[in-house]
Amino acid sequence: MITVRDSRDDDVATIAAIYGHWVRHGLASFELEPPGEGEMASRRAALLAAGYPYLVASNGDGRVVGYAYAGPYRTRPAYRFTVENSVYVAPDGQGRGVGRALMSELIRRCEAAGFRLMVAVIGDSANTASIKLHAGFRFGHAGLLPAAGWKHGRWVDSVLMTRPLGPGAAMPPG
Ligand SMILES: CC(C)(COP(=O)(O)OP(=O)(O)OC[C@H]1O[C@@H](n2cnc3c(N)ncnc32)[C@H](O)[C@@H]1OP(=O)(O)O)[C@@H](O)C(=O)NCCC(=O)NCCS
Repeated sequence: MITVRDSRDDDVATIAAIYGHWVRHGLASFELEPPGEGEMASRRAALLAAGYPYLVASNGDGRVVGYAYAGPYRTRPAYRFTVENSVYVAPDGQGRGVGRALMSELIRRCEAAGFRLMVAVIGDSANTASIKLHAGFRFGHAGLLPAAGWKHGRWVDSVLMTRPLGPGAAMPPG
């Protein structure tokens, strides 16, 4: 059974290991070098201090197999009701609903916090797992930045997908 909960300080090592794997071996993140645990801890602390959710998913035996958080899409203040999401699942935990469980709770938390738009900036047009995950939560395609990155010896697109949160743009923010 997959359980989603708030992350704790002692989850950071596992979070850094999961992210480090995907920085090294994937195209979802445009970072080239895995950040260390200290850097991941300060990024997480900054998001929590600003009121964004930072969640982990554990499997039946309590092992953390994925994490997700929301953060500012861009820092200029008119963007303050818009969040960008991040979801990463351990390579041996993929394809079992962990991403879906994390996304569901992340959306719920962001709606409860009053945010109105979630943006996914997906590394690589061929990232079918991520594009399908987002489409399953009614994210619509919002744009494509062709060849926006260069990683692992090739150009990498950014796929933009968006999903309204709560009443979305149907009314002004509360
Ligand atoms: C993308 C990711 C978060 C998805 O999480 P997951 O736990 O593997 O996915 P789930 O099991 O919850 O499945 C979600 C959907 O994606 C589909 N999916 C999952 N893996 C897939 C794959 N390899 N190929 C095609 N579709 C896939 C599932 O069928 C499911 O679609 P459905 O709801 O229509 O059945 C995860 O694979 C991952 O961490 N990938 C590497 C990092 C990354 O790309 N992160 C996203 C950053 S934007």
